[in-house]
Amino acid sequence: MVIARTIDELNEAKKVLRGTIGFVPTMGALHHGHLSLMRQAKEENEHLIVSIFVNPTQFLEGEDLESYPRKDEADIKICELLEVDILFMPTIEQMYEADELCIGAPKVKGYILEGEKRPGHFDGMLQVVMKLLNLSSATKAYFGKKDAQQLVLITQMVKNYFMDVEIIACEIVRDDNGLALSSRNIYLSQEQMQRALLLSKSLKRATKLVMAGELNVKLIQQEMQTVLKGTDEVEYVAIVDREFNTLKEVEIGNTIILVAAWVGKPRLIDNLWI
Ligand code: PAF
Repeated sequence: MVIARTIDELNEAKKVLRGTIGFVPTMGALHHGHLSLMRQAKEENEHLIVSIFVNPTQFLEGEDLESYPRKDEADIKICELLEVDILFMPTIEQMYEADELCIGAPKVKGYILEGEKRPGHFDGMLQVVMKLLNLSSATKAYFGKKDAQQLVLITQMVKNYFMDVEIIACEIVRDDNGLALSSRNIYLSQEQMQRALLLSKSLKRATKLVMAGELNVKLIQQEMQTVLKGTDEVEYVAIVDREFNTLKEVEIGNTIILVAAWVGKPRLIDNLWI
């Protein structure tokens, strides 16, 4: 495995690759969710490039940029074990210059839900993903459905900018209790871990209702809010179509149910595609 810390090193390492490239961009602190993206990318392509870059432009003032978990040594070992061809770990200086040309998230889809709670987050996220996709020369790039709005916006960016890469949506990976894996879960105490399960429980409640024939969005949201009462603060419970348009009724096969809530230090998100 080549560890490329500069763009020149990355380009040099790419020269010897022959065939399709799968790309998994990450911010490190790798967990089984990342590993499943990497395994899928490995299966579907001849080569695998992974990036680890804690991107400052997608963190808002006061968010956890400084304390975001960094586990470079362990991450490098994981990538070696998974036979990654190139691990790209650039510095901020490699990725950005002072007066940058910026792309922005769409004004509606990029500024609701996560975009409303974290205004500007998606601008920074798209900016870095555009750079990383271009640098990787990937045939396919893999993103988890857990960050559903991120995934939909990246897919739109690739479409709007005619980028020659296929975006692959990958299933959410959960622990045995149903908690969606996230690098920020390490902040949870045992007691908070239990309360964090309320997010997936609220989604299970929604599934049961839908399976029983209840499609009314308001009613499902109310039921989910009841389940979520043990969290510290619910930021939103939303039911949208797969383009993030609001719905009055669940459309089976075209709906995402999303939840964001605080439990202790971390702000948690989870969702269900039905
Ligand atoms: O989902 C993430 O980890 C980040 O948003 C990404 C896609 C690596 C961009 O920094």
